[in-house]
Amino acid sequence: MTKLLDLSFIRQQFPPFANPEFKGQAFFENAGGSFACKQVIDRLCTYYRETKVQPYYPYSASTKAGQAMDESYESFARYLNVKADEVFFGPSTSQNTYVLSQAMRGYLKAGDEIIVTNQDHEANSGAWRRLAEFGMVVKEWSVNRETGQLETEGLKELLSDKTKLVTFPHCSNIIGQINPVKEWTKLAHELGATVVADGVSYAGHGFPDIADLGVDIYVFSLYKTYGPHQGAMVVRENIMQNLKNQSHFFNDKELHKRLIPAGPDHAQVAAAHGVCQYFDAVYEHHFDADTARGPAVHDLFRTAEKARLAPLLDYLKDNPKLKVIGSTDSENRAPTIAIVAKKVSSPELVKRLVKHGIMSGYGHFYAARLIEAMGIDLEAGVARFSFVHYISDEDIQQLIEALEQEL
Ligand SMILES: Cc1ncc(COP(=O)(O)O)c(C=O)c1O
Repeated sequence: MTKLLDLSFIRQQFPPFANPEFKGQAFFENAGGSFACKQVIDRLCTYYRETKVQPYYPYSASTKAGQAMDESYESFARYLNVKADEVFFGPSTSQNTYVLSQAMRGYLKAGDEIIVTNQDHEANSGAWRRLAEFGMVVKEWSVNRETGQLETEGLKELLSDKTKLVTFPHCSNIIGQINPVKEWTKLAHELGATVVADGVSYAGHGFPDIADLGVDIYVFSLYKTYGPHQGAMVVRENIMQNLKNQSHFFNDKELHKRLIPAGPDHAQVAAAHGVCQYFDAVYEHHFDADTARGPAVHDLFRTAEKARLAPLLDYLKDNPKLKVIGSTDSENRAPTIAIVAKKVSSPELVKRLVKHGIMSGYGHFYAARLIEAMGIDLEAGVARFSFVHYISDEDIQQLIEALEQEL
């Protein structure tokens, strides 16, 4: 039987819901950054209060600091179904992909082909495109201009025996489409290409099983998955040996430092484990011990989100006062909904919604190439309403009523 999310339990895990500052307001900018769960906030505070020293030395505070960081690598590995040595925490996804692109210069040669998309956030696009400066051939897999979707045929047309790298989003931060990562990865792997998937817009809706997806590199941002402001990435063992050390020369053998030239933010790395503690608490509250933890939490979140997404899409899809950017079918779609209103600009709409207690955002959200491809004005962009599992039916109703008055 499908388990239903206990929303009151969930909200107790997020301090903003008890904060008078947020009373009466409904939060629809989660694709920009989610609330942090209390487990993360507690760990961050504990780190600063009790173990704010250089980690991994033999004195007590330092040992504890190192242990707190190690817990994060280990718990993320469990939820993502990879090894702890394959998990990395860096300053942000944009920084992580930039570093990765430099690390890949070690094995890509002039003439090698790289496939990028124009559906991606620029973080998983620009860094790869810049490799053209070193002679690599960059090919763009372009979206269908009407739907904003990437079609498999487009990838097949671009793949060749020269393709060495294929990059795409797991989910678009504008059209919300959940892409068939497994199928695309298989196509790329048949030609021996490495696959990088941007999971930033997906992971907040439930952590994926990375081994099952099959990708070589998966990147996402912890501040959109209830955590601190860090980027997480999984780099599978098979690809690691191809990546050039990007840290100081003497750190070449220090696995967790090789791809983090900024140096780790110890407290935030330690706090990251709080995200998994939150998932553990959700799991223990809802399930019996014999259910697989990762998939159970993932599906619980997804079911709750879909139940709230359907009525919102129903309201939006036949509304003559606006256009939904992307699919209006709640299947295969994250609750990240972009619209363009016919009579009100996106900035003006978002501003007007504030008096109805709606927290939302507007713009191109750094997916400027997608916005342009779909013929949308880049400056005004779209108004975006994005939510995660902690949003209630009442929040959805509040948004619908606000839109009803302001469109
Ligand atoms: C889909 C997607 N990819 C990448 C990023 C970049 O993440 P970061 O802010 O951690 O660099 C974002 C940020 O909004 C995003 O939405």
